[in-house]
Amino acid sequence: MKDLNKKPSFQEFPDLHKTTMETTNVPVQTQDNMIPVDPFCKEDNPNKITFEDITLAAFKIKSGIVNTACTRSQMSHATGMELYLKKDFLQKTGSFKERGARYALLMLTEDQKRVGVISASLGNHALALCYHGSKLGIPVTVVMPVFAPIMKITACRQYGANVVVEGLDMGEAKRIALKQGQEKGLTYINGYDHPHIMAGQGTLGLEIVEQVKDVDAVVVPVGGGGLIAGVALAVKTLQPHVQIIGVESERCPSFTAARAAGHPVPTDIHSTLADGLAVPMVGYNAFATANSLIDKMVVVKEEWIAVSILKLVEHEKYIVEGAGATGLAAILAGQLDDLKGKRVVLLLCGGNIDTTILGRCLERGLVAEGRLLKFTVTISDRPGGISELCRMLASIGVSIKDIMHERAWIISDVFSVDIKVVCETRDSEHSEQLKEMLHQNYRNVTFGGVTLEPMMKLRSLNN
Ligand SMILES: Cc1ncc(COP(=O)(O)O)c(C=O)c1O
Repeated sequence: MKDLNKKPSFQEFPDLHKTTMETTNVPVQTQDNMIPVDPFCKEDNPNKITFEDITLAAFKIKSGIVNTACTRSQMSHATGMELYLKKDFLQKTGSFKERGARYALLMLTEDQKRVGVISASLGNHALALCYHGSKLGIPVTVVMPVFAPIMKITACRQYGANVVVEGLDMGEAKRIALKQGQEKGLTYINGYDHPHIMAGQGTLGLEIVEQVKDVDAVVVPVGGGGLIAGVALAVKTLQPHVQIIGVESERCPSFTAARAAGHPVPTDIHSTLADGLAVPMVGYNAFATANSLIDKMVVVKEEWIAVSILKLVEHEKYIVEGAGATGLAAILAGQLDDLKGKRVVLLLCGGNIDTTILGRCLERGLVAEGRLLKFTVTISDRPGGISELCRMLASIGVSIKDIMHERAWIISDVFSVDIKVVCETRDSEHSEQLKEMLHQNYRNVTFGGVTLEPMMKLRSLNN
């Protein structure tokens, strides 16, 4: 890695030369029409980190970071893999981001530490920076876009950081942060592309190799690419035969797009359950470090992320955010079947999920698995019609969550009534049994919602 403390001054480029970082809806017109760029992350001169950077990071952050457990999963038998879960959601602020944040802070010069740092982030990087800034006595400013979760904004403030809530999206928040950094002499720390951040995240790879013998593959969620860059370099240096597999949500596949183009490119992104991965363009340094070390990239559907969050709650009792559950999503969706029979480590790298979103994910997961169903059935409006339907459902052990009947709006015949039911089944086979029974007994039955065709069924968990 280059000497990062040498002349870390900001440079200015005309707006025309604005880096393609983050697609933006509303470009910021700075007063002088100049937008500062991050001196640590340059398109024309990317900075690759080395294995030694990671070992130095491991030594430096050891006392301030939890060496989280990596244990065999309850889902090993069901998935047909020797599955190990690296539980970095158990760091103090709920994510692996603390590793890079602490290391980047520790590596500042005394002058830089005194003046402080600035960054733009939606959540995990901001939390990590604010927490370790408070521990190390380094002033931290974070710019969070206006839609950042209030819970995370409050938590950052509680760590005594200067939290600026500004910018309609991450691109705008970043430009504001770079500008403020330049004006106030603060060091800008990119959450995925700063070389010290990547080196810090790489310590996860060192721990995995030490904790699990004979690993065949490590599955890594990918946002801006800093995590996979560090982990891939650490693991491949120590054990070159281990496969490194990156996973993205279908709604923000920016690393996959960069691989196709041969360099980072702006990618359309949409709201996703894996909000931690919603980076429109991967980092130049991260891409340069990681690309040749990655064996495969996989893009997963949102529904499988919801199912994975549900499975982790049900079978492991872990609360993991969408980004952290993408590795399991790829496995459950059957996209990594070539790893069956192998020893696979999944990074459960974050647990910061809003309770309301968690509730929605659990429900979506149940729907996607075919365990929560909604249907409308037309039955006879004579006394006993509804009770007959309820008896039928009870006879096969289906539990009714909600039931409503509608009389006035149906147009067929006045002696009929539409019944809308939301019910819970044990699994997709049980749902099939229900569907068959309803079709046998009623002429008019329609089912709503999207059920995933389970490519892989979770079998007995008694392994
Ligand atoms: C929980 C979680 N997992 C994975 C990632 C991806 O890390 P990176 O942006 O370094 O690729 C992030 C990024 O914020 C995250 O918050």
